[in-house]
Amino acid sequence: MLPVASPTVLGIESSCDETAAAVVRGGRDVLSDVVATQHELHERYKGVVPEIASRAHVERILPVVREALRQANLGWEAIDAVAVGHRPGLIGSLLVGVAAAKAIAWSLSKPFLGVDHVAAHLFSGLLDRPICAFPALGLVVSGGHTSLYRIDAPTDLHRLGGTIDDAIGEAFDKAATILGLGYPGGPKLDALARRGDDRAHAFPVPYLGKDSEGERRLDFSFSGLKTSLLYAVRGVPDRTSRGREPHFPRSEADLDEATRANLAASFERVAVGHVMRNLERALDRQRVGTLLVGGGASANTRLRQELATLAGQRSLDLRLPQLRWCLDNAAMIAGYAAFRVQAGESDPLSLAPDPLSALR
Ligand code: KG4
Ligand code: ZN
Repeated sequence: MLPVASPTVLGIESSCDETAAAVVRGGRDVLSDVVATQHELHERYKGVVPEIASRAHVERILPVVREALRQANLGWEAIDAVAVGHRPGLIGSLLVGVAAAKAIAWSLSKPFLGVDHVAAHLFSGLLDRPICAFPALGLVVSGGHTSLYRIDAPTDLHRLGGTIDDAIGEAFDKAATILGLGYPGGPKLDALARRGDDRAHAFPVPYLGKDSEGERRLDFSFSGLKTSLLYAVRGVPDRTSRGREPHFPRSEADLDEATRANLAASFERVAVGHVMRNLERALDRQRVGTLLVGGGASANTRLRQELATLAGQRSLDLRLPQLRWCLDNAAMIAGYAAFRVQAGESDPLSLAPDPLSALR
């Protein structure tokens, strides 16, 4: 395929519970951006139910794509390439977006591209902004990933560390459940933490030891912090309950509002602090002038504030996505695909959705 200098890319995203399509020109001009969320379908189950998600994607994918073209005020002939998030994600959800993208690309005789969802999150801070300088440091903080990357070029990424258990967004969601806040938890915990005293409770700071060169590891862990919150809310379960459901002396319904907010703020301080310490360690070791951040938890108020402060102190070009591009969306898929379209690259129509593999 010939390189296209400023390609108009149709992006499709369906990896989890958002059905999304967008048209992006030249990797940064977002001509349209449509997201059909399924939150109302999953709320009563307190999490995403894969079968319900797949069926909802099937129903919504074509109306969402048509709406993206309508909002961009373009016909099909204006599309230079069709890109889709093809990994990682729920297999049934991925299949719907990948099948739609292939069918559209084939019918238009246009290039088809599969995009890594995590890479797309990392570069979402470039949408509607000029290109940044490389090398950069990349931080992805989502419901499924918490990882650091050295980025020498948009398609040349090296993973420096990642979570060994929960992702930070997952930890926020579980903390919200422990505090009785409901689904989706991250934004609710964020709002509650704003009203609390972040020093009211001393939660343990995760420590992951050193690597083979004696340097502190750049990995993350949130599961111990989550258990500490559980015990702070419900008390320590009795020891005789081994093998059975643990019996806790209290429930989250016993919390008064001030304590609930204080616990949320204290949990958030330690979780965000853990990310920031690792980020600073990585910055001490890598000579970079740019910091790319993305993923659902990059919408977190405290994390955004601490990142802005750090960027000011270290004179970094911080690329935080606008709030609407923190969560899953298709503009980031189309935006990231443009780097490959501009290089004349595409993928075969035999490319399969890949639920488990992610950017290494
Ligand atoms: O990127 P995303 O939409 O999906 C994945 O690729 O995983 O991220 C979703 C995650 C959820 O865990 C959600 O709780 C978290 O992002 N999240 C937040 C906030 N908004 C969304 N976490 C903390 N504070 C927020 N304001
Ligand atoms: Zn995501």
